[in-house]
Amino acid sequence: MHGTLAISAILGLSAFASARPVNGPPGHGSGSSSSSGGQVDFKFPLDNGFPDVANPSKALTDIEEQAHGTLPNGTAPPPHTNSLNALAFIAFNELFEVVFFTELIYNVTNNLPGFDNIPNRDVVLSALTAVQAQEELHELNANGAFNKFTGQTVTPCEYVFPVDTFVDAIGLASTFTDVVLGTLPDIQTIFADNADNGLIRGVGGVIGQEGEQNGFYRELLGKIPSALPFLTGSAVDFAFNAINQGFVVPGSCDATLALLLTPASGTPLKEFGILNVLTTNITSDTDSEIDFSFETKTSGGQSFAKQGLYLTYINQQNVPFSVPLMKEQFQSDAVTFTASFPGQSQEMNGLTIAAITSTDGPFATPDDVANVTLFGPGMIEVN
Ligand SMILES: *[C@@H]1O[C@H](CO)[C@@H](O)[C@H](O)[C@H]1NC(C)=O
Ligand SMILES: *[C@@H]1O[C@H](CO)[C@@H](O)[C@H](O)[C@H]1NC(C)=O
Ligand SMILES: *[C@@H]1O[C@H](CO)[C@@H](O)[C@H](O)[C@H]1NC(C)=O
Ligand SMILES: *[C@@H]1O[C@H](CO)[C@@H](O)[C@H](O)[C@H]1NC(C)=O
Repeated sequence: MHGTLAISAILGLSAFASARPVNGPPGHGSGSSSSSGGQVDFKFPLDNGFPDVANPSKALTDIEEQAHGTLPNGTAPPPHTNSLNALAFIAFNELFEVVFFTELIYNVTNNLPGFDNIPNRDVVLSALTAVQAQEELHELNANGAFNKFTGQTVTPCEYVFPVDTFVDAIGLASTFTDVVLGTLPDIQTIFADNADNGLIRGVGGVIGQEGEQNGFYRELLGKIPSALPFLTGSAVDFAFNAINQGFVVPGSCDATLALLLTPASGTPLKEFGILNVLTTNITSDTDSEIDFSFETKTSGGQSFAKQGLYLTYINQQNVPFSVPLMKEQFQSDAVTFTASFPGQSQEMNGLTIAAITSTDGPFATPDDVANVTLFGPGMIEVN
């Protein structure tokens, strides 16, 4: 067993949902994110000009070489509104991923404390270097299509990441990649529902490559490469809130959030309150009870009745199910509670998405859960 690695990975991810800085942005200009230690001073654009990269250009050719491949060079007919909104979300997601991997490469290359003495450092750096450029191409592809058909561009936010060590960073990368892997099939469903079939294959190509990435991260964490027979499903609203709550510096990208939350037409994304997973030793070896809290100050000042709320779990491709909240403690701006986690009896490995919902179903899909979610997502990662 790789006990230390596994525990660090779990710690990394329980911070995922609670990393939102309460004191506003760090003291840097727009387009930057900075570590608390001030050692990293990330600024867009990257040295290669990203995200402002023309097609064609020498800069794009260089990114493609680093990525070991090219942007798709075909064309698709104009997508319908909800598909365009989904492309905007993909660009939002990929921008944060580019920042994350750029910072991580910087930290490892410069042997920052916590990022030094990494086994197989050369192999790790060569993999991350390809990933960085591959995420840049994912972003340019989605934002390019969004811009071509709307005239608008999704611009970057400032970000903070709750990681101080290499193992934490890889644990976080594995968890957010799991969320992406659950969300891209939701986007394929949006494309299918809107008759934009021409976009489905390209997203399939990204799903596969994100799965390859996650096999590598899981290997580094001492886990088997493939987590589950059927990976956990998600919804765009869950992925958006995970990124916005966990990484985006509040106030750093209001125009981008407006594109997503109040699009010109189509279904807007929804902002949820924050649900924290407090327990860190969650297991599928036994059924257990785990502790959560939700932050009522993040929910627009609504007050919460002591009844009529449920905790709903999404795991694998199974029908989402709800459990009651127990031992609730109401504080001025948070509610803590306990809920059962049937890890062993439901074989709940891999990613589980937890949400506070206003009904207990019946749910058929993650979208049904997102539609009645008040707080979430809480992310649980087992094995
Ligand atoms: C890089 O290291 C800094 C300093 O420890 C840390 O604050 C930041 O979160 C790290 N970022 C990544 C992606 O590893
Ligand atoms: C796309 O790339 C292929 C080679 O991979 C090339 O044969 C083809 O001409 C390109 N098409 C366009 C429209 O650029
Ligand atoms: C997790 O740790 C707590 C506190 O030490 C303990 O009470 C609980 O039984 C543990 N849960 C599992 C599933 O091991
Ligand atoms: C979720 O709600 C939206 C807007 O209210 C609606 O268009 C959509 O059909 C609902 N989806 C599901 C799966 O219930």
